[in-house]
Parts: sequence; C-alpha cells; structure tokens
Amino acid sequence: MLKDRDCGSLRAADAGSSVALAGWVDRRRDHGGLIFIDLRDRSGVVQVVINPESIESPYEDAERVRGEWVLRVEGDVSLRPSGTVNDNLATGEVEVAVRSLQVLNASSPPPFYINEDSDVDEQLRMRHRHLYLRRRRMQSNIVLRHRIVKHIRDFLDERGFLEIETPILIKSTPEGARDYLVPSRVHPGSFYALPQSPQQLKQLLMVGGFERYFQIARCFRDEDLRADRQPEFTQLDFEMSFVEREDILDLIEELYATMAEKLVPEKTVQRPFPRLAYADAMDRYGSDKPDLRFGLELRDVAETVQKSDFQVFRNALAEGGRVKGFAAPGLASLPRRQVDELTELARSRGARGLVTIALDGDWTDPDDLQAEQIRSQVTRFFPIELMRELARTLDAKGGDMMLLVGGPGAVVYNALGELRVEVARRCELADPDVLAYAFVVDFPLFGWDDAGERWDSVHHPFTSARPEDAPLLDTDPGAAYAQSYDLVCNGYEMGGGSIRIHTREMQEKVFGLLGFSKESMDERFGHLLSALESGAPPHGGIAMGIDRVAMLLAGEDNLREVIAFPKTQTASDLLFNAPSEVEQSQLAELHLRVTE
Ligand code: AMO
Repeated sequence: MLKDRDCGSLRAADAGSSVALAGWVDRRRDHGGLIFIDLRDRSGVVQVVINPESIESPYEDAERVRGEWVLRVEGDVSLRPSGTVNDNLATGEVEVAVRSLQVLNASSPPPFYINEDSDVDEQLRMRHRHLYLRRRRMQSNIVLRHRIVKHIRDFLDERGFLEIETPILIKSTPEGARDYLVPSRVHPGSFYALPQSPQQLKQLLMVGGFERYFQIARCFRDEDLRADRQPEFTQLDFEMSFVEREDILDLIEELYATMAEKLVPEKTVQRPFPRLAYADAMDRYGSDKPDLRFGLELRDVAETVQKSDFQVFRNALAEGGRVKGFAAPGLASLPRRQVDELTELARSRGARGLVTIALDGDWTDPDDLQAEQIRSQVTRFFPIELMRELARTLDAKGGDMMLLVGGPGAVVYNALGELRVEVARRCELADPDVLAYAFVVDFPLFGWDDAGERWDSVHHPFTSARPEDAPLLDTDPGAAYAQSYDLVCNGYEMGGGSIRIHTREMQEKVFGLLGFSKESMDERFGHLLSALESGAPPHGGIAMGIDRVAMLLAGEDNLREVIAFPKTQTASDLLFNAPSEVEQSQLAELHLRVTE
C-alpha cells in the first residue's frame, strides 16, 4: 500500500508516530514560508504542513500542487500548537509535518467545488459524476447504502433466506410500466424485455421448492420520472412459501426497525408500525402513502355544506362527490400570492378550485368566532353559524386557514392530499428526525379501467383476493379486497407485496377479468400457469425500494443522491452519453431499421 494510515483516522494519541498518507488535496494554503494542505481520503481530512526548512523532497513540488491533485506524503504526527486546534474536524487536534511529498497525479481544475456542499447545475454534476462522488455528502450516502444492503443480507441470511439471482433478459412482466426491450440477433424480429421486477421468477422459485428467497434485484421501468423514480432501480425482492400476510409484515417491520436503529440511531421509529386500511388512508390523508409525521387530517364537511347556499359544493354532493377539508394552522395571514399558489396546486390535481376561509382573532372555541373575523370568497353562502360549524369540524382556531375542496371523490382526495403535504412543508410540521413507517392494507383487488373497458389490477395480476372475497370474482369483482400491502414512510411508498394466487384456476379467472383471452394467457403466462398446476405451494412476498430507503435514511429528497450513477430526469446518462445512436452495421445485425 502507498499509505499506512487513513487521513481521517489520526488523533492526539498518534502524536509522535511516523505515517505515510495518500489522498487528494482538499484545500491548499500558502502562508509565505509554510504550505498547509488539507489532505483528503475516504476516511476524512487531515492537515499536513510543508516547511521548506525540513522537507527532504523538492519544495517546488509542494508549491505546484492545486486542488484535487493526488499526493503521497510521509511525515510525523504532532499536536497542533495551542490556539490552532480545529474543533470542527475529527483530526483537528493534530497535523502532519511532512518529510517527503510525492505528486502521484495532477488534476485539471474541477468544474465545481468538491470540498463544499454548494449547489451544482444538474448537467454539470451528471457529466462529472466521478468528481461529484468525491464530495463528503455523496461518500457518506454511498457508505450508508452499502450498510443498508449489508444489514439486509445479514438479517435475511440469519433467518434462512437464500440469495438467488434471476435473469435480466426475460419476457415482459407486467408491473404497470412500459418495458425496456432488447432485440435478439439470433431470433430476427424477437425481443427480450428487461424485468420490471423478478415477480414471476420468484414465484417460480417457490414452486421450485426454495421456500425463502431474496435478491438485491435490479429492475427496469420505462415510466415518467420523478424525484423518487428512476428508470433503473434496485429492490430488495423477497418471497416465502407457506406464509400468511402477518408473517411477512412482522418480518419487514423487524428488518426496517433494526435497520434504522443500527444505521441512523439519531432518528426515531415508532413501533409497532401502524396498520391503515387503504380506504381509511384515503379518507383521512387523501393518499395511499400518507406522511404520518403530522396530523392535518381531512374531515368531511358535507353535512354543513348541505345547509349552506354554496351551489358549487352542493352540486358536487348531488353528483355523488365529496366535500372535505382541513385547517392549516396559523396560515390565516398567508399573503394573497401564496394562497393563489395553493389554489394552483389544487387545480393541478384536478380540482375546479380551492375554497379558503381565513380566521382572524385568537379564539380557541369556535363559538367565539365572529363574522368580521372571517375572510373568504364564500362568506355570503355560509352564515356565521355554519362557519362556526366548519371550524368545529376542522378543529380550527383563530389564526388558522380552513381549506375546502369539493368534487368527485378521487379529485378531492388527490387535491387535499397534496395540499396537506404542502401546508406541512410551509409550516415545518414534519420532523426530519422521525421515520413514520406504516403498513397500508386492504387495497381493492381491481380498479375499473374506463378506457380499456376492463378490470385492472391495483397491485399486479398475481395478487390473491382475501379468501372470504374469492366468490366476489364471479359476482362483483370491484368489491373484492386484495391480500396486498404496502410499507409507507414519510409520504413515500417504500415497498409493496401480496399473498399470491397459487392455483391455475384462480389465476386464469383473474387473467380473464383483466381481459386476457385463453390464447393470450397461454402465450404470455403459459410458464406460470403450468407451474401453478404442478404443486405450487401457497406463497407471498414483497419488494422494497432500496434506493428509496437509502434516500430516506440519508435525509435526501432525490434518489439521485444515493445512486452512484443515476439517470437524469429524461432517463439519460450524461457521463457515458447514453442512450446514443449505434452503427448501421449493428442495427442490421439486429434486423432493425430506424424510421423517421
Ligand atoms: P412495486 O411495483 O410496488 O412491486 O415495487 C416495489 C417497490 O419498488 C420501488 N419502486 C421504485 N423505486 C425507484 N424507482 C422506480 N421507478 C420504482 N418503482 C418501484 C418502490 C416500490 O414500493 N413485484 C412487486 C412486488 C411484490 O409483489 O412482491 C413489485 O415490483 O419502493
């Protein structure tokens, strides 16, 4: 090794020892006569001092070095003179008096600061990913990600799970996104699909008798990207035979709670993880992945609306819709422009508008609310008694702003769910040191797809109905509940899974409801159907987003910050410049032609 110690490991107790270090120049200061370099490696930074009087190698080498040059130094650790100790640095009590310095490599000036966490343009950051990765924050995020995966492997290994790899070149597996296709050279006109998940493969492993499988699996989905979505991402995928829902939920809770305890002890995790029915989550939070770090629960105000003269809301109710709302604490004096922003947000989620009712004064009992303390576009439709009733229903007090949305149920949930999160953000209600995990259960098995005029799986087509709901598949499929579950945390969906269908008969019935003909089922899923009639054990599992949990534990708000080489918002890789055009000869070999 070119080094015998890590820069960040040196402490006062090392004073007097001779060390060899290697790393990058984090900072260099020339104090006329003495050169100070902060030398950085993965472990941290230490100050090395070059004195022209005592250095044995050429002093000019030290004068030449610049930021990000790669050096090797040999020298002696000494305590820093009193008054120069740096309390902000783990190695701040010591410095290294350099005996010899060797330039291992020079560096062109980096296009952005490596040694500080300043903002960097996305294009630049992606194009020079290798440099961005040198930043302290990225280093610690990638280390954390490694520890997460290590924790998962150790935890599951101790419980008898086997890590089994599954192929990347397969056939289309439906998870609701578009497939990435790979043309076959040897089979003209035929394509592999990259797996959206190893779903069917892990089920086949259960039929294959492995009982407990897991994999740190790469998945590929061609879908619209968001801060918490990458086209290529990683799942902890697992599956067990002879299980019931509770077995899987218990295991996931233990895995995720111990992970947080061990890796981010400064964060609080509440146990047991609460269970929320899907319908309840929508009703109370307007989302199937609610952020439970704060309240702001949605309340139904239909009863009050019925007594008012506000036709817009009354019509919404008459058409079978809902009117719901919540009180935003302390936002009564929100400036007009910001109220408009909230209205825009509601509109972007399909709402026709947002009713805001600002409540002035410092009362806590709604009975004390006076007409002149109300500012709203609907004052004339709601007499003071009804305003008091609204305030009571929404638990509002003086200084709050009531927010109401009416319309079709889905729109009301969607708009208020977004507003709830936005208000919490503006009021800083979400404690960044809390991980509010919860399981969402009792999803419907199907949703009706108007465009395709058929049922669509809410989770995926391999999910079983609750046993008591199985007869509904023949009579009223829309009323059947699934044996599926999601793990959510702080507003993100962290994972999802289900108890699977394990008989051919039931699987064919579900494919049928999804609109597959007998022939197309056999063509697309023949392998699975035949496995299900070959002694398939009852089984179930879940897949957890590794990128998402790393993002959450690292306190980041974009997956890019926890993936070494992520894609941009347009699914591009700016480092390698992919995707890119290929040679005509390659296309010809693949029997492909690019058309305009
Ligand atoms: P699902 O599609 O719910 O389930 O995915 C499971 C989890 O994977 C993560 N995830 C993503 N992370 C980053 N970028 C993406 N584009 C992305 N898409 C999904 C989420 C999500 O909760 N086969 C089933 C699982 C099962 O039934 O066992 C599946 O893939 O955290």
